[in-house]
Order: sequence, then structure tokens, then C-alpha cells
Amino acid sequence: LAAGPLAGKRILVTSGPTHEPIDPVRYIANRSSGAQGTAIARAMSGMGADVVFVTGPADVAPPEGVQVIKVQSAREMLSAVQGALPADAAIFAAAVADWRVKSESGSKIKKVAGALPTLEFEENPDILATVSKLKTGRPGLVVGFAAETDDVIDHATAKRERKGCDWIVANDVSPETGIMGGSENAVTLISAEGAETWPRMGKQDVANRLAHKVAEALG
Ligand code: C5P
Repeated sequence: LAAGPLAGKRILVTSGPTHEPIDPVRYIANRSSGAQGTAIARAMSGMGADVVFVTGPADVAPPEGVQVIKVQSAREMLSAVQGALPADAAIFAAAVADWRVKSESGSKIKKVAGALPTLEFEENPDILATVSKLKTGRPGLVVGFAAETDDVIDHATAKRERKGCDWIVANDVSPETGIMGGSENAVTLISAEGAETWPRMGKQDVANRLAHKVAEALG
């Protein structure tokens, strides 16, 4: 049996980007590497938690010793998350695509000389908001991320209230920070009690510190 401050706790972690299909060979994606979410799953598991790791197509391999559910699109991620509940805590580190292509083509879209295809979009489900607002079966602690490029704390504080989650881990992903796709992160943890800014450190150190906070909150 697992030992550690999170022993006996079931923790759901989402991670990585999503891929939104255009046709059988093309998709829309984003630059998330999955590094921060993977580090969080590793930290929680290392502290004894029973981790369900729902990941989009990430650059980094999932950690050992966790239950891995691989998905492609935001809709697949939502149903994997719903199927993985209940959980004591849920950490939403995935960079979910905001939009998907409205009508995915079942066959490869042909290149036609002189004509350009037009893509129409529709909104993806917001997985974090959906789980945060569950009337029954809501995890006791729901944590979201906010990648912002300006007014980080203000935007993230508003996001915490809008999404209905308990904590937001906010970070500045302006290109000059090198955080998106890099090995370090500089975050502010926002809760109902206020904001606490952590020094810039490795993504695994951010994950370990977050895991300790989660263990404290779950008691
Ligand atoms: O609204 P925004 O994308 O900035 O919110 C980021 C947070 O919401 C992250 O925790 C992300 O995992 C989550 N999210 C989600 N489903 C979406 C969009 C974002 O779970 N469709």
C-alpha cells in the first residue's frame, strides 16, 4: 500500500495540449509540452496519491506508476475526466483548445487550384468550469491554471471566480519569460484567501510545492 501524505487520495490531473481535427490528416494544436502537468502527476504519485493522468498528445512521457488515459481532442478529454471521477482533488494543467473545427471532414480536404478552404469554428467545452460547477460529485479541491501575458494576477483572480474552481495557479507565458515549453515556471497561487507568489523555480519544484499544498488542504 502507498505511503506518504497523499496516501489513500485519488487525484485527477489533466495535461498536455489537445489536438482538434480538421480532417483525417490535419489538426489544430498549441505549444503546450505537457511538462508542468507531468511533473504534477509525478509529485502527487511520489507522495502516495492514486493518480489518474488524462493527457493530450504531449512531448514528454507520462510518469511511471500513474493510470494514464491518452486523449486527442477537448471533447475526448472531457469524457475521460467525467469517467475518472470521483476524485479527492482535480488539477487541470492541460492547455485545452478553446475552439474546434465545426465540421470535421471525414476525408482529406483536397487542394484545389485557386481555391482556399474556410474553417468554421465552434467552442469547446470548458472542462475545468464543468467540473468546478458539478452539483454532485465535485472533487473537494479543484485547481485550474491561468497562462496569461499581462495583468496576470487580476486576470487569474477573475478567472478563479468565473470558472468556480478553488485555486488558480497563474503564470506569465509572455515569450520573453521562456516558460511555455521551458523547464522553469514562476507562478502565483490564487485562492479565496488571496495570492501568494512563488520564486521562479523548476517545473518539478513547482509541482512538488503544489503537491504539498494539496496534501495540507486535503488533511
Ligand atoms: O480559460 P483558460 O483557457 O485560460 O483557462 C485555463 C484553465 O482552464 C486551465 O486550468 C485549463 O486546463 C482549463 N480549461 C479546461 N477546458 C477548456 C479550457 C481551459 O479545462 N476548454
